[in-house]
Amino acid sequence: MRLRELTSDDADAVRRVYSGASIRYLERTAMEPADALRYIEQALCRARDRPRVHYVLGIDVAGDLIGVIKLNSTTTRAGLSYILREDTWSHGYATAAVATVLALAFDTLHLDSVAAKHRTANHASGRVLAKAGFARIYEDEGFVHYAARRKRSPTDPATP
Ligand SMILES: CC(C)(COP(=O)(O)OP(=O)(O)OC[C@H]1O[C@@H](n2cnc3c(N)ncnc32)[C@H](O)[C@@H]1OP(=O)(O)O)[C@@H](O)C(=O)NCCC(=O)NCCS
Repeated sequence: MRLRELTSDDADAVRRVYSGASIRYLERTAMEPADALRYIEQALCRARDRPRVHYVLGIDVAGDLIGVIKLNSTTTRAGLSYILREDTWSHGYATAAVATVLALAFDTLHLDSVAAKHRTANHASGRVLAKAGFARIYEDEGFVHYAARRKRSPTDPATP
């Protein structure tokens, strides 16, 4: 599994990701081809922002784009979300993708914390976050909220 930038050739793969059971817990309908093209255009446009605050990365397994993981940062915090094509579930790919994005967030972007949430009934997503080291913070209005925090290193400035 590797994460990579999306390209305009990924439109059909992205459309297939955003379909079927994968959108059960998302407030959206299945993607049409035109939606997928717009999605990629927007991702490529945001990737050019400097400083870059939006990461929409493809989850690629042996050349097959099986999902998308997003990191949106504001100052020192960020939000994380992900979706994988239904036929690729339960192979550990989402957990591996989340671990890779946490390394990006903490080691490269030097963020302090990353937040994520899932619908209460979406137990698979809860497992992914728990396995990747997120702590459950609270539950509210049908969502469970989580946070992962950067481990402080001896070279970090002391906190008061
Ligand atoms: C949630 C999702 C990303 C998981 O992807 P994945 O690649 O299957 O995740 P992983 O294989 O890394 O881990 C899945 C874990 O959930 C568990 N799981 C799967 N279905 C489950 C269920 N119905 N109830 C409880 N646990 C479940 C698996 O057993 C595994 O845990 P384990 O390693 O302890 O056995 C994928 O199901 C998905 O894309 N869902 C639709 C989009 C979505 O819900 N995104 C999250 C929005 S917050």
